[in-house]
Amino acid sequence: MDKFFLFFLAYLITCPKAFADDASNDTRIFYNGTGEVFFKAQEPLVLKLNNVSFVLDKDPESAEGTSENGTSTLTLKFKDISNEAGQLSSVDLVMSFSESMGYWKMSKGMISVKGTANGTQIDNTDVAIHGQKIEAPRRFSYHCSRVLSYKPVNDTNLVLLIKGIQVQPFEITDDRFGRSYDCQGFFSIALLTAIFLAILIGALLGWGISMLMSVNAPDRFDDPKGKPLVVNALE
Ligand SMILES: *[C@@H]1O[C@H](CO)[C@@H](O)[C@H](O)[C@H]1NC(C)=O
Ligand SMILES: *[C@@H]1O[C@H](CO)[C@@H](O)[C@H](O)[C@H]1NC(C)=O
Ligand SMILES: *[C@@H]1O[C@H](CO)[C@@H](O)[C@H](O)[C@H]1NC(C)=O
Ligand SMILES: *[C@@H]1O[C@H](CO)[C@@H](O)[C@H](O)[C@H]1NC(C)=O
Ligand SMILES: *[C@@H]1O[C@H](CO)[C@@H](O)[C@H](O)[C@H]1NC(C)=O
Ligand SMILES: *[C@@H]1O[C@H](CO)[C@@H](O)[C@H](O)[C@H]1NC(C)=O
Repeated sequence: MDKFFLFFLAYLITCPKAFADDASNDTRIFYNGTGEVFFKAQEPLVLKLNNVSFVLDKDPESAEGTSENGTSTLTLKFKDISNEAGQLSSVDLVMSFSESMGYWKMSKGMISVKGTANGTQIDNTDVAIHGQKIEAPRRFSYHCSRVLSYKPVNDTNLVLLIKGIQVQPFEITDDRFGRSYDCQGFFSIALLTAIFLAILIGALLGWGISMLMSVNAPDRFDDPKGKPLVVNALE
């Protein structure tokens, strides 16, 4: 939870403009999961099977979203994706998200693929895929301009690549994405906050030290030419 606290601290200090969406290219894809889950990416999703890349640049047969009791799900179904090295009759992708304690995260990713890639028959059903964490504070969308990759635990022949993801599975208002919580922005903003605090603390410390230095030692009786200090010991 600490990093979300830091995030909000940084958020308050820095200009909200830092979160503005910079993407401006229409190779972007947008899937509307029944108004419950929004999913956007800068480029179409890429599925690598046996080193053959399939670009999921067709419109999905269906994009469905559900949201209930703190759990949201996005289900994307693609049909007939092909390239020169293979043909996939169906690709189903399911992403589940859960919400708790002021933030949400992707809790599960599942993929089902049927077809052939480079001469090999592929028949995967509901294979769990794992990769970079996707999480953000409530009401925020998650954004990452890097390429994120998701794959099964013990299988290197299947990789799902997502470039420039923006996703929001909860609390979509006004039919658009909320502010985005950026995968890289967080670090730079946290760093800026740390630097700002370091300068502030440094300045306070410097001011304190200079105040200490300007205190003069009592030297009223240190003048060698002045009257010596005489203490009368006689009563
Ligand atoms: C948009 O994407 C295309 C192809 O990916 C690229 O050639 C072009 O430079 C991009 N335009 C901008 C403004 O990023
Ligand atoms: C998403 O879909 C819902 C209904 O399924 C619709 O009300 C909403 O306007 C759509 N939003 C966008 C941005 O396409
Ligand atoms: C895929 O490529 C990697 C290296 O690029 C290689 O190690 C691996 O054996 C290849 N897998 C298949 C199924 O061709
Ligand atoms: C397809 O398979 C052949 C042999 O099985 C291999 O030589 C070739 O590199 C593969 N192609 C890709 C794109 O992995
Ligand atoms: C959601 O909660 C309601 C009432 O608390 C319950 O009836 C329903 O079965 C729950 N749905 C799921 C998917 O857990
Ligand atoms: C993956 O492989 C490891 C060791 O090879 C094994 O212990 C583990 O159970 C495997 N996990 C799955 C999900 O198959």
